Amino acid sequence: MSSNLTWHQHTVDAASRAEALGQKPLVLWFTGLSGAGKSTLANGVEQALAQRGKHAFLLDGDNVRHGLCSDLGFSDSDRTENLRRVGEVAKLMVDAGLIVLAAFVSPFAADRQLIRERLPQGVFVEIYVEADLATCESRDPKGLYAKARRGEIAQMTGLDSPFEVPQSADLVVNTQQLSPEQAVAKVLAWLDDKVEWHAGID
Ligand SMILES: Nc1ncnc2c1ncn2[C@@H]1O[C@H](COP(=O)(O)OP(=O)(O)OP(=O)(O)O)[C@@H](O)[C@H]1O
Ligand SMILES: [Mg+2]
Repeated sequence: MSSNLTWHQHTVDAASRAEALGQKPLVLWFTGLSGAGKSTLANGVEQALAQRGKHAFLLDGDNVRHGLCSDLGFSDSDRTENLRRVGEVAKLMVDAGLIVLAAFVSPFAADRQLIRERLPQGVFVEIYVEADLATCESRDPKGLYAKARRGEIAQMTGLDSPFEVPQSADLVVNTQQLSPEQAVAKVLAWLDDKVEWHAGID
């Protein structure tokens, strides 16, 4: 990083922006295998938050790879850089007062931990969207597992690239046991229990 950079402290700060929006900024980080149901769940939670008048924004894996991260592939180092950028965007959005939902396979615990550490205490909420490989592979809505089995994709998480199961997720949502609607309800119940909505950011 250049030593010629100076951080400008602006007058309107994160706390006042959060207060103006009447909410506590959060990053709801959905991690899990491809096909586990992260996008479905994050989409449902975003919709429910919007209905409650909350200001949220969903960052979804494939979508950011069209633009922000279009130069990156799926090697270990590119996956790490992908998540580093997403983490920085999430941090900016938190500064703006938003509730960020992020739906990324994010297979490496260290990458998830780095994002947690870059955010203010209590902002990062790790939600493990759990479904076993057989279930994800049978869903395979994008045909990725089939392509990987045919050798057309390398480093498919769950097959020839590891998924590091979160050891201390804030919340686990099993999509083999819960319908999409029940899964959304579980996240909302957790938020209602744990989050003081008007606390702003501290
Ligand atoms: N709770 C659920 N119960 C049953 N099926 C579900 C559930 N949630 C999602 N699905 C189905 O599983 C498939 C994968 O869902 P989704 O696209 O949300 O997964 P994803 O985790 O975002 O995958 P990717 O990492 O590839 O983007 C879809 O066909 C979806 O309809
Ligand atoms: Mg998805």
